Amino acid sequence: MQVPFFPYSDLYLEDEKAYKDIFNDVSSRGAFILQKELEDFEKKLCEYTGSNYALGMGNATDALEIGLIAGGLKKDSEVIISSHTMIATASAIVVAGGKPVPIDCGNDHMIDVEKIESAITDKTSAIIPTQLNGRVCDMDAIFSIANEYDLQVYEDSAQALGAKYKDKTAGTFGIAGCISFYPAKTMGCFGDGGALLIQDKEVYKKAKLIRDHGRNEENKIVMWGRNSRLDNIQAAIMLHKMGNYDKWISRRREIASMYNDSLSAISNLLLPPRPSENPHYDIFQNYEIQAENRDELKTFLSDNGIGSLQQWSGVAIHQCRELGFNQDLNVTDNIFSKILMIPMNHLLTNDQVEYVIRTIKRFYNN
Ligand SMILES: Cc1ncc(COP(=O)(O)O)c(C=O)c1O
Repeated sequence: MQVPFFPYSDLYLEDEKAYKDIFNDVSSRGAFILQKELEDFEKKLCEYTGSNYALGMGNATDALEIGLIAGGLKKDSEVIISSHTMIATASAIVVAGGKPVPIDCGNDHMIDVEKIESAITDKTSAIIPTQLNGRVCDMDAIFSIANEYDLQVYEDSAQALGAKYKDKTAGTFGIAGCISFYPAKTMGCFGDGGALLIQDKEVYKKAKLIRDHGRNEENKIVMWGRNSRLDNIQAAIMLHKMGNYDKWISRRREIASMYNDSLSAISNLLLPPRPSENPHYDIFQNYEIQAENRDELKTFLSDNGIGSLQQWSGVAIHQCRELGFNQDLNVTDNIFSKILMIPMNHLLTNDQVEYVIRTIKRFYNN
């Protein structure tokens, strides 16, 4: 049996006719840029997440950058992030004029909130938790530190559309939170795409100007901007996809339960927490485990037709020495020697999931 890590073409084939119709409809109307479908999709995102405002953008990296600029990130200030995140979190900070400061993640792979305070200096201006793998960090603890030290909070919620902490949705806790529609995301588009969730009207107005060359509604240039508009065709496709999104999340959570039920007895593995409702409602963008003999397991899975992946090609932010990072983060180094993502997407069949489970059990003689 073959179980690809992510079946990219099936993303299209599962609903081909609907997508062809959408392409035909939008294209034949010539409705390509900043059109009704984008506005409708932004409204839908607000309804779905409870966000006050949403803006479709070219990708989540742009969205985070624009959010930081619109939110007034202090020039040359330090921003605390988890070292277990995509380089995009750090590069967005750099482009917005700040300095990323990676700290350790904990065994749950999220930023270790216990280590935030010791990373705060007189230059620190913000914290950006990454809502990794479709799980939201302990936002109460993060806000208690942020409030005490007067720090801004933004979210890298690229992987967490619809994930919740205490019934509040990822991307809506801080000044702004980015969402990614990269094809392998829980809601992927057909190329690059992203959105920014924003709570404050002034930040929204600024971010909206920045994503469209600094032009206002009368087409007048009122500030420096850039071009990062979500294509209207992608917005139309995702409006359609929103109709299925909750079903897909349920399926991901069902698959996570199957993995947890069957693999938790293997002492060589550390699994993500089981799906629950509260305080963490996880959407399982990824199912990331820690595995003893990870490299051998990965080869064994591959030899048996199963795709697996080390997130960020196995490199944490502080390990990017070429970029000038010089922190020693031993906990993250240790975790990164074991992490592996096994197949997780709503298109997996039960047979495929059971085959992955059997193969992992076989590897560990369990
Ligand atoms: C945590 C995180 N941040 C940022 C990004 C960047 O998203 P995009 O590719 O849409 O720019 C990703 C995408 O993989 C991500 O996983």
